[in-house]
Amino acid sequence: MILLHMRFDILTLFPEMFTGYFDHSILGRAQEAGKVTFALHNIRDYAAGKHRITDEPPYGGGGGMVLKAEPVFRAAEAIAQLGGGENTPLVLLTPQGRRFTQEVARKWSLLPRLILLCGRYEGIDERIREHLVTEEVSIGDYVLTGGELAAMVVVDAVTRLLPGVLGAEQAADTDSYASGILEGPHYTRPPVFRSWAVPAVLQSGHAANITRWRREQALRRTWQRRPDLLLTAPLDEADKAFLATLAREEASIQRAGREPE
Ligand code: 6GU
Repeated sequence: MILLHMRFDILTLFPEMFTGYFDHSILGRAQEAGKVTFALHNIRDYAAGKHRITDEPPYGGGGGMVLKAEPVFRAAEAIAQLGGGENTPLVLLTPQGRRFTQEVARKWSLLPRLILLCGRYEGIDERIREHLVTEEVSIGDYVLTGGELAAMVVVDAVTRLLPGVLGAEQAADTDSYASGILEGPHYTRPPVFRSWAVPAVLQSGHAANITRWRREQALRRTWQRRPDLLLTAPLDEADKAFLATLAREEASIQRAGREPE
């Protein structure tokens, strides 16, 4: 029997930051079930000298500190020894990287192993980028104080795609982005909360009507919030017909708004 398993090696100056997140909920269960391993490595452990210095001021002056090349290379070389996988990507988390998307998460979820390097300080020695790192990713257009949060985001997004990590109930292929569109609204008990009722169709027990209603709600939400996704999402004829009615609805609302009384 082939046991599918993925290993993440994370190089960071703050390994303690990860344990709270990784040890709970779905990621915690995935580890216990042996589907994934999160190996945390403290870069400081690979720094030389009594003081184990990991950062120094930049050549040429200017403020801030720069992560030294030596401890990062030593750490990466030490963990490359553990387990095989010559083609394992070594990913640097940095706001300068290409955008991390669901598509990247899906590709990486097919790999047996991924190494993540968390940047810190004002920057990292350029020789790490040039001669060690194979890819650079950013999780969005804002600046974090370090790559740790971004690494957690990557680990979470990839791990939940591994076979058997989510139950059939929450299968990853029904969520937003996998289907190419946003999810519609969800409701649970009670049927009326502070006078706000659950839509009748969801309580009707009519499976086909529920499926169609959900699809239309998802399309409506995507149309309102992320119309760009509709350009690439897989849509069938019924979807397109529904979107056409939304377009007509909006056109008539706009006409009504423009017309004098
Ligand atoms: Cl990957 N790192 C940092 N420091 N900031 C970020 C980021 C990564 N992605 C977006 N902002």
